[in-house]
Amino acid sequence: MSNLCVVGLQWGDEGKGKIVDELAPGYDLVVRYSGGGNAGHTIVAGRKFVLHLVPSGILRDSTRCVVGNGTVIDLVTLLTEIRELEGAGVVLRGRLTVSDRAHVVFPYHYILDGLQDDRADGIGTTRRGIGPCYVDKVARTGFRVADLYEKPFGERFGRVVADKNAAIRAMGGKETCDASALLATVKAQAAALKPFVGDSISLLHEALAGGRSVLFEGAQAAMLDIDTGTYPFVTSSNASAGGVAAGLGIPPRCVERVLGVSKAYTTRVGAGPFPTECAQREGEILRTRGGEFGSTTGRPRRCGWLDIPALRYAVRVSGVDRIALTKMDVLSGLGPVRMAVSYRSRRGRKDGYPATVEELGEVEPEYVEFPGWTFADGISCFGDLPESARRFVREIASRTGVPVAYVSVGAERGALLEVGSG
Ligand code: IMP
Repeated sequence: MSNLCVVGLQWGDEGKGKIVDELAPGYDLVVRYSGGGNAGHTIVAGRKFVLHLVPSGILRDSTRCVVGNGTVIDLVTLLTEIRELEGAGVVLRGRLTVSDRAHVVFPYHYILDGLQDDRADGIGTTRRGIGPCYVDKVARTGFRVADLYEKPFGERFGRVVADKNAAIRAMGGKETCDASALLATVKAQAAALKPFVGDSISLLHEALAGGRSVLFEGAQAAMLDIDTGTYPFVTSSNASAGGVAAGLGIPPRCVERVLGVSKAYTTRVGAGPFPTECAQREGEILRTRGGEFGSTTGRPRRCGWLDIPALRYAVRVSGVDRIALTKMDVLSGLGPVRMAVSYRSRRGRKDGYPATVEELGEVEPEYVEFPGWTFADGISCFGDLPESARRFVREIASRTGVPVAYVSVGAERGALLEVGSG
């Protein structure tokens, strides 16, 4: 099995967790390369699991999981997740490795994220401290997991906490951090995490050299990528497939295939451009039918039709060679279904994707409409989908230039059709 990257093609929440869980038995390792507790990967396997940091391969016994150096780790979130998984009978010892080079999210990152997002120019973050933690990484004022176990940590941490408290006060924040209490808490958390901490880079290189197959699990999505997304309404990491090499310390050539995940419609949480967003009532129907509420924050998601120009851009950026189309069941019984196939642009743009929020605000999506379709639960073969649904799928393939390999028709394990199977 060649190494595969599973990456989101929209603004997150495409159902990457479900796809990774379905494909994981075919891989030796499942590895997260970017993002942090802002992600919420949902898997329905007997019961519902929402994973924020632990890779979605963890529910398959034979899979080894790694949280890579490009991620940012909130110790509370991770330890809670570990405890809950172990409580559910999932064996983690010897199966889960957290990179010693991943950066750590501290409570002051949460406070700063909230203060920043409360301002008029806030972008509607998940308030999980992600942006401020990546800022510290780039500013070289952050702490990595390995640092927590070194002697000078306490002293340096005290100085950084004092600086952060000053920043919090300067932003009008009332809640600051008590450095010595926080240090004691962090040391206890670091001790609890120790059995899972390791040199993820060596582990991955050894696995690759030994011919093991790896599934790289993306978090967030191409349109939220710090470099290629709808800046500044993005997350603070490279969520596209391009993030794999740096986020794991492995050569780019290790990514052999890329499966892009897209919903059959579009959603977005938080602020930012969304050309195909539906008007309130129409959006509400999609939201209710699709259960479109954030799995990390519970926020209602904005909903709209499938956006081919955005999809084509995301496919290009990540080198996607196949698409997994999710939530087709949500459109069943809805009535006519629309798909934006191009943007009319006053600026005469012919190629590429608009770079600014202003240009995206001006575009007018041009739609094609498909007769609605209805199919029953439990459908197990692509050929059993109604013709208009199959035409919708074929249209996505022809307009993006890459085949649709899977169509998901339900949240539960197994509700996944292989295209071409019938
Ligand atoms: P942050 O990643 O918390 O800084 O949030 C930045 C933007 O990315 C906001 O619009 C969030 O709603 C969005 N975002 C971050 N993580 C996810 C996710 O897992 N799913 C969907 N949107 C996300």
